[in-house]
Amino acid sequence: MSRTVYVNGQYLPEEEAKVSIFDRGFLMADAVYEVTSVLGGKLIDFAGHAARLARSLGELDMAAPCPDAELLAIHRELVTRNEIVDGLIYLQVTRGNPGDRDFAFPDASVKPTLVMFTQSKPGLADSPQAKVGMKVISIDDLRWARRDIKTVQLLYPSMGKMMAKKAGADDAWMVEDGFVTEGTSNNAYLVKGGRIVTRQLGTEILHGITRAAVVRFAREAQMEIEERPFTIDEAKAADEAFITSASAFVMPVVSVDGVALGSGTPGPVATRLREIYLDEMRKAAI
Ligand code: PDD
Repeated sequence: MSRTVYVNGQYLPEEEAKVSIFDRGFLMADAVYEVTSVLGGKLIDFAGHAARLARSLGELDMAAPCPDAELLAIHRELVTRNEIVDGLIYLQVTRGNPGDRDFAFPDASVKPTLVMFTQSKPGLADSPQAKVGMKVISIDDLRWARRDIKTVQLLYPSMGKMMAKKAGADDAWMVEDGFVTEGTSNNAYLVKGGRIVTRQLGTEILHGITRAAVVRFAREAQMEIEERPFTIDEAKAADEAFITSASAFVMPVVSVDGVALGSGTPGPVATRLREIYLDEMRKAAI
């Protein structure tokens, strides 16, 4: 069945939705995006995603396409029109279509492009992967240096995902100057002696909306969290590990570069945090 998608003020069947070949998102990857999950027909942490979108736009001197209240209304309309129970809403804002190719940013009269679409994922929170865990490999982090801005420059993360697949793994953790930055599309954590370790916020990683909630819930549950860089060797020697993202929530990691962690099955900290995260976020969903 054809989806109804949103493009610049219009709800259209996906086959009819069009963006110009001169759009800077297409030509220059001059665009930012957000992915918000939907559980039980409701949006998970919309406020967090809207706040990060505003920050990404601000860092790139890009105009906001519309007020947050309108963004929320479009999210909800797409959920309704596409009868999404569980799934994702993808949102992309580009610097628009200046009518030709030019490295310089266009003037303010060029309107941003706003595109949104849904991805239906029935049973998203009951992913079989959560029961067996993920395998990760390590790769060099060859991305640009402003990973705190959620741009659509996703070629290297896609290449990382393919390197992982080729190695028989599920994802890649990227390493820079000897320390893990993050996964191809998620934040990375290890657990050792009951302490959770995850890299501190900075320009080297995306400030995960799921990460912020999980760190808060872990502290509220009296779990110890250390925000500092860690190495792949430290990860290999960990009791357990996990990742967080809007689409995977909290997902256990059971091996790093072929080395099984602990018993090689999802660990108790990741499993508990996944339960807490899903419970709390379902309660707060709008
Ligand atoms: N990815 N780090 C990177 C590089 C990411 O691309 C993502 C999200 C995260 C986790 O952020 P959050 O918890 O806000 O989803 C961390 C999304 C899900 C994607 O590209 O599909």
